[in-house]
Amino acid sequence: MLIFQRTFWVLMLASLLLASCGAPPPPEDSNALIPATISGIGDANVGKLLYSTEGCVMCHATTTQPMVGPGLAGVMTAGGPTYPDGVEYWYALPNGSPRTEENIAAWIVRGGRGQIGMMPGRRLDEQDVADLLAYLRTLEK
Ligand code: HEC
Repeated sequence: MLIFQRTFWVLMLASLLLASCGAPPPPEDSNALIPATISGIGDANVGKLLYSTEGCVMCHATTTQPMVGPGLAGVMTAGGPTYPDGVEYWYALPNGSPRTEENIAAWIVRGGRGQIGMMPGRRLDEQDVADLLAYLRTLEK
């Protein structure tokens, strides 16, 4: 009898673990741009300039091509950019935060670490960040 009880609990635990590992469903439209809660006050032309002067260009292509970091085409969409094989964030940011402009702004300022590598943070004021986000919105896959 004891052996059956043990099997029961092992099976219960296994199914609980499986359920908690289930992949979240994809967004309704992966190509839809996320709501413009910050970029609305940004200037994409200024953002394009900042993209070079702030050094984003050293690590990120504006296409889907990976460099040090992922190519940033599609970064402002619900589905996110194209990642190298084996990297999976389930439609979240590399730090696990949901894909909102607030969270992307925080990532750009603070930097962070993910499955690909480390991005350093940088000193940017609110207007710089809004301009950068407005530019990133123009990068389509
Ligand atoms: C020294 C290299 C480096 C520089 C410079 C850099 N990044 Fe990154 N960035 C990375 C790496 C590496 C990642 C990927 C982290 C991971 O997924 O492990 C990343 C990830 C990102 C992401 C998250 C993409 C996503 O949704 O998964 C955004 C947004 C981003 N960078 C924007 C920028 C912007 C804007 C700049 C310029 C202000 C910049 N980065 C400068 C290396 C860099």
